Amino acid sequence: MERIAILGALHEEIADLLAAMEPGATTHRIAMRDFHVGTLWGTPCVIALSRIGKVAAAATASIVIQEFQVSRVIFTGLAGGLHADVNVGDVVVASALMQHDMDARPLFEQHQIPLLGRVCFDTDPAVSRLLQDSATRFTQDRGAAAVRDGETMPQVHVGLIATGDVFVSHNDEAQALRKRLPDALCVEMEGAAMAQVCYEFGVPFAVMRVISDRADHAAKTDFTVFLENVARVYTAGILEPLLRSGALLNVDATASARQG
Ligand code: ADE
Repeated sequence: MERIAILGALHEEIADLLAAMEPGATTHRIAMRDFHVGTLWGTPCVIALSRIGKVAAAATASIVIQEFQVSRVIFTGLAGGLHADVNVGDVVVASALMQHDMDARPLFEQHQIPLLGRVCFDTDPAVSRLLQDSATRFTQDRGAAAVRDGETMPQVHVGLIATGDVFVSHNDEAQALRKRLPDALCVEMEGAAMAQVCYEFGVPFAVMRVISDRADHAAKTDFTVFLENVARVYTAGILEPLLRSGALLNVDATASARQG
């Protein structure tokens, strides 16, 4: 059976998805992780907590691909905004991901994955487009309330996400990343590792992140508040319509209908 894998690094990022799984879901424990297999809003899914960081994300992606016959992998969670236009509360859908901490110079060029000959991993355009459209609808609905509360209207961005084994919480670190990677919209700790594994297995993937902080000295506080109050609501709110409509399973048909 074809399934969609949905991964998150922290419990709060997938909590509402787990709670919404239809009765009869089963849990498989592999390599100290729980893989929840069942139906979520009508779509067969496997949901797992990867834990934080590139190794954890890569291990989790390998397991879902090898053990659970997934047709697509989606990673969801929070990220720190890097680009000047990317603010707290915005959503970033990756068009590509790269590992900002990969540096095997002078053997290989900076950021290149050694012996794979690539820096960036491109996401599945059709799934990314579905996420972008759903995130736009979700933020527009929520945005009205946010603007009433004196906040700015959340935006949805599509572009490059930078991944590394570091929680960026100093202005100078963030500035250095902005200078080195002017196209990177946000920074997180798992996406490009999952992307590399999916690329190597030939499984399409997508990444959606909600901006919890600006990767500066306030990042820790902003991240915690956001994690507890907002992360789960966004993830479920954006994924629910796509799973209910079956769009993520029929993504190839949906994409060609759009083009035709
Ligand atoms: N995820 C959320 N905020 C982050 C940050 N500032 N650095 C790395 N990963 C993050």
